[in-house]
Amino acid sequence: MIDLHEYDTLDSTNRLLLDMAKEGAPVGTAVWAHEQTGGRGRLGRSFSSPKGGIYVSILVPLNSGSDSGIRITAMAGVATMRTVFQVCNKKCAIKWVNDLIYDGRKVCGILAQGYSGKAVVGIGINYRTDLSSLPEDVRTTASVLYGPEEEAPDERSFVESLLNNVYDLCTKGDENWLDEYKASSTILGKEVLILQAGSVVGEGVAVRIDDDCHLHVAVDGKEMILSTGEVSIRNRE
Ligand code: BTN
Repeated sequence: MIDLHEYDTLDSTNRLLLDMAKEGAPVGTAVWAHEQTGGRGRLGRSFSSPKGGIYVSILVPLNSGSDSGIRITAMAGVATMRTVFQVCNKKCAIKWVNDLIYDGRKVCGILAQGYSGKAVVGIGINYRTDLSSLPEDVRTTASVLYGPEEEAPDERSFVESLLNNVYDLCTKGDENWLDEYKASSTILGKEVLILQAGSVVGEGVAVRIDDDCHLHVAVDGKEMILSTGEVSIRNRE
């Protein structure tokens, strides 16, 4: 059962939900903001969150096990991709670890933060965002689900479906999600640059994603196994 708290503007839905978790909020608690002034991204970055986007966070159980964080993030990616298909009839792909790609560009970012056996899963989607309201460096690599001339499905229905899908998949899993995650990857078979703190630390070919959602990259005849950080597709991004 989802207990949804809606706000016009917040600094960060992840920040608020983490605070609520610390005060004992149960799994299924969710926060939705129409705009964020301090949106949090992966790797300590900010996440630009103007009006027109959808910014939600939901509290889910975090199973013990060293890699549960990355799997939860990947599950949330699959659940979001499914929701976009079910509600919008649009097909996204996933760029490891958890960026959703639509029309060749990033349309959604996901940030999971753990707290005491639970995870706050935060999802930001350029739903009907005006691209000009994004900073220039983001705008050039971003897409939106709906442009200014298009009619978008009601946001509340989208958010409710999204939160139900994320909660169900992250709580119970299902037999298809991992295959879907792997099959939707934009980078398998491609030459990639491995980035750490914004600098290139290696390059190779992305060969597979394993069942822990780690990315295997063939580098100089050896396989590097990545569990976090970033990769960039060579000559494309
Ligand atoms: C990324 O692409 O780096 C992850 C971005 C995650 C953004 C979402 S928006 C809702 C939730 N609240 C936040 O402050 N961040 C996440």
